[in-house]
Amino acid sequence: MKKILLSATALVVAGAFALTGCSSERGGDSGSGSGEETASGFDAGSTIGVALPDKTSENWVLAGQLFTDGLEKAGFKADVQYAPASNTVAEQQNQIQAMVTGGAKVIIIGAKDGKQLTTQVEAARDAGVAVIAYDRLIENTDAVDYYVAFDNFEVGKLQGQALLDGLAERAGHEAPYNIELFSGSPDDANSAVFFNGAMEVLQPKIDEGTLNVVSGQTEISQTATEGWKPENAQRRMDSILTSSYGSETLDGVLSPNDTLARAIITSAQQAGKPVPVVTGQDSEVESVKSIMEGVQYSTINKDTTLLVEQAIKMVGQLQKGDEVDVNDTDQYDNGKKVVPAYLLPPVIVTKENAAEAYANVPSLLEIVKSYE
Ligand code: BGC
Repeated sequence: MKKILLSATALVVAGAFALTGCSSERGGDSGSGSGEETASGFDAGSTIGVALPDKTSENWVLAGQLFTDGLEKAGFKADVQYAPASNTVAEQQNQIQAMVTGGAKVIIIGAKDGKQLTTQVEAARDAGVAVIAYDRLIENTDAVDYYVAFDNFEVGKLQGQALLDGLAERAGHEAPYNIELFSGSPDDANSAVFFNGAMEVLQPKIDEGTLNVVSGQTEISQTATEGWKPENAQRRMDSILTSSYGSETLDGVLSPNDTLARAIITSAQQAGKPVPVVTGQDSEVESVKSIMEGVQYSTINKDTTLLVEQAIKMVGQLQKGDEVDVNDTDQYDNGKKVVPAYLLPPVIVTKENAAEAYANVPSLLEIVKSYE
């Protein structure tokens, strides 16, 4: 997937367009040729399929519930399926195929492996079913109509900057700082987007010698965490600590999400080492607690409620045959087309701004307040 870098100004402009609705466009205008039928409306009360991956983080668990409730409330029949942790790709393929055969009018997909759904989404297109990629892009096919996600490149940049800020605050010494890099699962298109966003901030600091990756593992293939599994991150951290941090101190770790952040912290603790500055993502309950306790340094708030709401709004627009709101039409090239996207802004969270960042997330705000 190619990702064109947007400057902060461009993002603000894109946001302004979104607010005024100037960038709304009809499905199919962006080149797939498939959107005309899908944008012509369908019966209220139709079935909407939602195919979610395995539950590798709390956001996926929450999304299923919110889709079920939100779609029913909007008058649709919701068919929400998770791909089980075993045999995930094949099961998700079967689930999507069954949704097409079962007459779903729109299928919202959080892909397990965004490169392996070509046959299924093309079957959807051929049956006149609209496909919305949710959170993770579906690659190498023109049969995906829309993408709805948080701005994941921005997530990576925020993580990179948080690592630098955390090091300046907590390392207890001047630069250079020793760091290690972790990325997500290679079958998730987001993993490279997060990593590239973070490296846009970190690479210049590595080049100038402010940051030192002691293991030497700076390629995404070396930093990957298969299946987003915490045990894989923990094993890799254990092995790096043993091989590269005998006499050196590890000051910071780029972690792409909270589940892996906690595994990395556990590894340092079990090795009897000081806990490094560790980034995260998803605002998982245990990580928010850890941040308030001064252990994990940062997370990202990608409010799942807002993302699900936006996806359901798109379904409503498709149902009425209205234009579907998008605010980005040039960043998400999936190899076959630039997928029109609606991107929401992610928010960095540290102990310092947690109360403000979770002002609209009552369950997390309550946790933050309990530490005040
Ligand atoms: C999501 C992250 C999540 C990860 C693992 C990614 O695609 O964007 O929020 O942490 O998957 O579940």
